[in-house]
Amino acid sequence: MIVRGAVLREMGLPAPYAASRPLRIEEVELAPPGPGELLVRIRAAGLCHSDLSVIDGSRPRVMPMLIGHEAAGEVVASEAADFAPGDVVVCAFVPSCGTCGPCAEGRPALCEPGATANTAGTLLSGTRRLTDVHHHLGVSGFADHAVISAHSAVKIDPSLPPEIAALFGCAVMTGVGAVVNTAQVRAGRSAAIFGLGGVGLSALLGAVLVGAHPIVAVDVVPSKLELALELGATYALDAADGVDQVRAATSGGADYAFETVGSAKVLEQAYAATRRGGTTVTVGLPHPSQAFSVPAVSLVAEERTVKGSYLGSSIPSRDIPRYVALYRAGRLPVDRLLTATVGLDDLNEAFDDLAAGTSIRQVLLF
Ligand SMILES: NC(=O)c1ccc[n+]([C@@H]2O[C@H](COP(=O)([O-])OP(=O)(O)OC[C@H]3O[C@@H](n4cnc5c(N)ncnc54)[C@H](O)[C@@H]3O)[C@@H](O)[C@H]2O)c1
Ligand SMILES: [Zn+2]
Ligand SMILES: [Zn+2]
Repeated sequence: MIVRGAVLREMGLPAPYAASRPLRIEEVELAPPGPGELLVRIRAAGLCHSDLSVIDGSRPRVMPMLIGHEAAGEVVASEAADFAPGDVVVCAFVPSCGTCGPCAEGRPALCEPGATANTAGTLLSGTRRLTDVHHHLGVSGFADHAVISAHSAVKIDPSLPPEIAALFGCAVMTGVGAVVNTAQVRAGRSAAIFGLGGVGLSALLGAVLVGAHPIVAVDVVPSKLELALELGATYALDAADGVDQVRAATSGGADYAFETVGSAKVLEQAYAATRRGGTTVTVGLPHPSQAFSVPAVSLVAEERTVKGSYLGSSIPSRDIPRYVALYRAGRLPVDRLLTATVGLDDLNEAFDDLAAGTSIRQVLLF
């Protein structure tokens, strides 16, 4: 079949994207699903900074690519035993084979064949169903239809509005998972969150959910600080005020600090904001050339920990339905992250908005 979607042929075109138009809306041939795969009619797909990082070249990927990785839709054809037409699914941006070393250990976010396929721009099977164009993280959600591995799909409550459902695929799974799975924050422990985009605000919602206290939210955009306070942050601080303010607000340093910006410099600030014995969780994805440094002895003599968190250290089939249920119960108000819905032809302008910090999650709606 022919699908209409947003294809990136060259990374690093100059902003503003409204002028350089890195995303071309093209018609692409999509082959039918192979064994273990699904044809999904995409209903909604969120715009994540990781998409922007492919566009601006700070997260290099094989070109050309039909991008988008935070998507929800309806199965229209299934070659997998556990799925049938009519199922509503959220796509996870790492397919998990279920049998490799990390999968066997219960860490599907680190699936080895999944990582190989994502790097190669193929589906988990190692094949491409898009003709002459690569898949993005096994999803390629900025198109009206996608073929995905069943190992990328999680069935959800079909009555969820699609623009809300999509958010669970990346922002919510990543941000809430960083708190609940990676850090395993307990009630009464303090948390500082650096960066209040879709991922950072999801981490904030996760911190509120588990009863972290106090919670310090840090950003450079005043409207994001205001929203953080509405969502339950105890303090909201402008990054320009410095790390000392975060340390003061947490009586000498946070038990947990989360970096959700994608900057090694901010990661150093997050580390410096933790207390002795504290844990720094790194979620943002800086350009591969960026390194960060800490005084090595502080890891030992102050028993500090730095933990990476990919896909929120999640088990998508376990966590997404749980987070949807918590949203339904009013405990995880992820709808507050939705800034706007956009159409395919608006994507370049919408990525300008994301880069400028004027939006949180914009969702492409079909
Ligand atoms: N680990 C994962 O699995 C995973 C998944 C999704 C996204 N990411 C990464 O997480 C990061 C955040 O993604 P997002 O979609 O929320 O992005 P976003 O652009 O919506 O949010 C980033 C936020 O950081 C703020 N910021 C910029 N400079 C800052 C500074 N110096 N101090 C404090 N805040 C600052 C911005 O104002 C913005 O609010 C990106 O690097 C993205 O690639 C990682
Ligand atoms: Zn993402
Ligand atoms: Zn695996």
